[in-house]
Amino acid sequence: MSADDRELAPIRLEIGDKVIELATTRASQGNHGMVITPLLQQTGLVSLDPGFLNTAACASQITFIDGDAGILRYRGYPIEQLAEHSTFLEVALLLMRGELPAARDLEAFETRIDKHMYLSDDFRQIFSVMPRRAHPMATLGAAVNMMAGFYPESLDSLDPAAVSLATVLMLAKMPTIISYIYRRAQGNALLYPKHGQSYIENFARMTFQLPGERFDAPEVFYRALDTLLILHADHEQNCSTSSVRLIGSAQANLYMSVAGGVSALSGPLHGGANEAVLNMLSHIRDNDIDPKDFMNQVKDRRSGVRLMGFGHRVYKSYDPRAAIVKRQADAVLEALGVKDELLDIAHEVEQVALSDDYFIERRLYPNVDFYTGIIYRAMGFPASMFTPLFALGRLPGWIAQWREMIADPAGKIGRPRQVYVGYPKRDYLPLDQRK
Ligand code: ACO
Repeated sequence: MSADDRELAPIRLEIGDKVIELATTRASQGNHGMVITPLLQQTGLVSLDPGFLNTAACASQITFIDGDAGILRYRGYPIEQLAEHSTFLEVALLLMRGELPAARDLEAFETRIDKHMYLSDDFRQIFSVMPRRAHPMATLGAAVNMMAGFYPESLDSLDPAAVSLATVLMLAKMPTIISYIYRRAQGNALLYPKHGQSYIENFARMTFQLPGERFDAPEVFYRALDTLLILHADHEQNCSTSSVRLIGSAQANLYMSVAGGVSALSGPLHGGANEAVLNMLSHIRDNDIDPKDFMNQVKDRRSGVRLMGFGHRVYKSYDPRAAIVKRQADAVLEALGVKDELLDIAHEVEQVALSDDYFIERRLYPNVDFYTGIIYRAMGFPASMFTPLFALGRLPGWIAQWREMIADPAGKIGRPRQVYVGYPKRDYLPLDQRK
């Protein structure tokens, strides 16, 4: 895997009067690793790195990001090439298996997925007991957890056949689940998947078809949706993926591990940002705020306002996914005949930000969430559905990363240390002696 297989010399670290030798792990690209595990035993020190700014939790072969150069590759393939030529299910196989599938393997996988998109009537019932006003991410997390109850034959994390079944069931049923969450919120009857329709066509039809009407969308609609899912499919050790790996490291089953990923993704600093961006742009429009004035609010630390859809822990240049989505937004809106002033506001806000010293100094650029909502909105999705769409896209990445983690023979349960800064020992005070 490595372009250069030579061993990296160990690192010699001087701590007080001790010299410690730490082994290294050579990266095939990007930052090499220094193995700090022996540090505790040899020095009594733990490494403290809040927010994991400099902690690699694992070695992985799945996704490579160069945040300075704006590079994203799945299994070595540039995101731009995959977005242009591949399909979501092909990318899912690539992420999970490590290679682009042969045509017959892809077809067999698509057929297997197609067979399992259906949800039993018992499963469909759960959508009717969730409050209609519930945020779709809350219902999605509950539904993914419930899968562990509905498919007990696929729970054994250490049985490859069970994991393979759980993988297919989850990828197959997720679009159906997400469409049902939407339909329930709309008060519409739940539809069934149709054999012979593609994954994306089934998803769009089950979501949008109105009673007694046909659902038809132009090719550009399906292609754009498929591409957006590809762009979200993996992003190495982000917050939700790390959550999935951590939960799975306890050998929790795949469904319950992924449900943890759904929870993490719902946060506005992570996947919830796509919804927050749209709300922010609507707020700017509805209150007729000049983008420059809005930017002054963002720069005023006391305001607590952030420019949603901007900034990234890893990218310190333009997020390559955002570049693709930005180009796509113009093209899709034109092809769908949608004129959206929020797109004009987004362009304006971006321009103001990119020429402002605050953003330049901090190297803050649009991330993938900045333009995606505008495309989803043009397709007819309400803002509350944007993060579930992100979850559908991220599903293959969560699964691939979980499978890589569970297959690692050297794998250990994830259990961080802490630096305790609370009280030393003190004695219990009876209630009548407390102030
Ligand atoms: N608006 C205004 N200021 C920002 C923003 C922003 N969007 N992002 C970062 N900054 C500032 C911070 O205030 C900080 O300034 P300081 O050095 O003066 O204190 C500096 O830039 C560094 O920011 P951190 O928050 O330390 O960076 P971190 O890597 O911890 O956070 C994050 C990254 C969470 C993505 C952040 O940029 C953010 O909140 N962005 C907005 C939310 C968003 O779009 N999230 C989606 C991320 S992509 C994804 O999950 C798909």
